[in-house]
Amino acid sequence: MASNKRPNVLIVLADDLGFSDVGCFGGEIQTPHINRLADEGLRFTDFHTASACSPTRAMLLSGTDHHVAGIGSMAERMSPEMRSNPGYEGYLNDRVVSLPEALRDSGHYETLMAGKWHLGLTRDRSPYARGFDRSFALMGGCHNHYGFEPAYEDRNTIPRIAAVLSRMYQRDDQAVSPADLPAEFYSTDSFTEELLGYLRDRDARNETRPFFAYLPFSAPHWPLQAPPNVVDKYRGIYDDGPEVLRQKRLASLKKMGLVPKDAVASPVVSKDEDGNDTKTWDQLAPEERQVSARKMEVYAGMVDRIDYNIGRVMEYLEQKGELDDTIIMFFSDNGAEGAQFEAWPLTAGGNMDEYVAKYHDNSIDNIGARDSFVWYGSRWASASTAPGLLYKMFTSEGGIRVPFVIRYPKLIREKGGISHAFCTVMDIMPTIMDLAGVPTPGRTYNGRQVEPMAGATWVPYLTGKSKEIHDADYVTGWELFGRRAVRQGPWKAIYIPWPFGPEKWQLFNVLDDPGETNDLGEGQPEKLKEMMGLYEEYCRQNGVIEQSGSSRAQWSDEPTGSA
Ligand SMILES: *[C@@H]1O[C@H](CO)[C@@H](O)[C@H](O)[C@H]1NC(C)=O
Repeated sequence: MASNKRPNVLIVLADDLGFSDVGCFGGEIQTPHINRLADEGLRFTDFHTASACSPTRAMLLSGTDHHVAGIGSMAERMSPEMRSNPGYEGYLNDRVVSLPEALRDSGHYETLMAGKWHLGLTRDRSPYARGFDRSFALMGGCHNHYGFEPAYEDRNTIPRIAAVLSRMYQRDDQAVSPADLPAEFYSTDSFTEELLGYLRDRDARNETRPFFAYLPFSAPHWPLQAPPNVVDKYRGIYDDGPEVLRQKRLASLKKMGLVPKDAVASPVVSKDEDGNDTKTWDQLAPEERQVSARKMEVYAGMVDRIDYNIGRVMEYLEQKGELDDTIIMFFSDNGAEGAQFEAWPLTAGGNMDEYVAKYHDNSIDNIGARDSFVWYGSRWASASTAPGLLYKMFTSEGGIRVPFVIRYPKLIREKGGISHAFCTVMDIMPTIMDLAGVPTPGRTYNGRQVEPMAGATWVPYLTGKSKEIHDADYVTGWELFGRRAVRQGPWKAIYIPWPFGPEKWQLFNVLDDPGETNDLGEGQPEKLKEMMGLYEEYCRQNGVIEQSGSSRAQWSDEPTGSA
């Protein structure tokens, strides 16, 4: 490194944000601070995560595949038999060194986290136990953003929810229940305030070590909720429906040079729990459209509020003269959430609709308020992921390709650049270790055997020493809930079971065709076969347990984790 001062690191993670939601990725949502990061930094258009949140988080904090790191499948959806396999523990396991552990144990970094964890619900698997000096964590996958928890008093009625309520949050090693949250709690504001408190404390005690700060928001994950004055900015913007929005976003992405000029958006796939198509915008009654558009307005408000809070942190760092000494990364954990939760089982005999109806008021003027509980469904999600196919939970581009922005002017001198280099969330840890000047752990760490990182550092690429991040032969695989994919260079083979896909392997050139619209498999059977072979090898190397992937398999009623 040019200077021997180690950089600060700030990772800001959005939860279920689609590829084209933020302004610098073609979206109409007002995100001036994220846009500033892009204008003064670099955007990546071919950055990939897992198709769901805890697997991505495991990859981010371990630098390796989630089937190795303990989240082989989402904890909420694993059978006891699955859990007995290495890599399927349901928490960030001991076979990996976590990024904050490595940085903290080096003695060079203070490690801070405020936001959603989702890598183990117990104290011995919490951020406190896995390397964070200071933390305030939402332990599970999601929660009411205002901390409103009517089921808390009534917790025996819905075991699935009750299982995580008492340890819903944790500050350092102390459990915090929803009842302990301040009255003015709003997730995005409160996580940011917590992190700003840590930064102020550092300044108060003249801390000389740089910081590693992890700010994983739980927005814009459902339930969609945002302050009314923010939502009001988006009133009426979505009245033409999701398909119009999707095409607008695609046009804007093309104009910005983020997707090829001739890219075509994939057909929208939107199914109910029986595999029937859901109603299109044209088939909705006027009142149904109003309700649906209102949900998207609230979603936009949530994204707007993320941006506002990123601005608060940037402003603080700028005031302290530390902004240019801080590597800032912003990205999403997976594509937008497209599930139709209308009949989602919460426990035997109960479902989401009943829970919502029992405790909430979803009348149109209350949507987005603390006692509302809504999600926006797969058609809006398909606008958020434009031009990608499908959304979260799928190995198609709509589920795994997300916006990525990095700002670090000391290293990245070109401003406002766009990179089309293929890269993944497994690269983040090796990149940060490299920039931090902290050696990569070997095969043993603190007396335990550990797996090596699978990602690669971006430093040679960012400094212009290398033209690509990964060479042409590099293979990346994906598997979750029986949905499969493998990528090598421009080639991607993908298998999506019925009813969301054709339940056969398909082949795409995703550089030319990011919407995965033109299946080349029949014309190039040899190439497809080769790719399927690479997928099998990926499964063997990472200990993947293949799941059937029938549509029913995604609905599990195990009362083990958060929704
Ligand atoms: C799906 O379609 C079938 C056949 O028309 C119908 O019987 C079923 O009720 C539909 N499912 C839902 C959830 O609407």
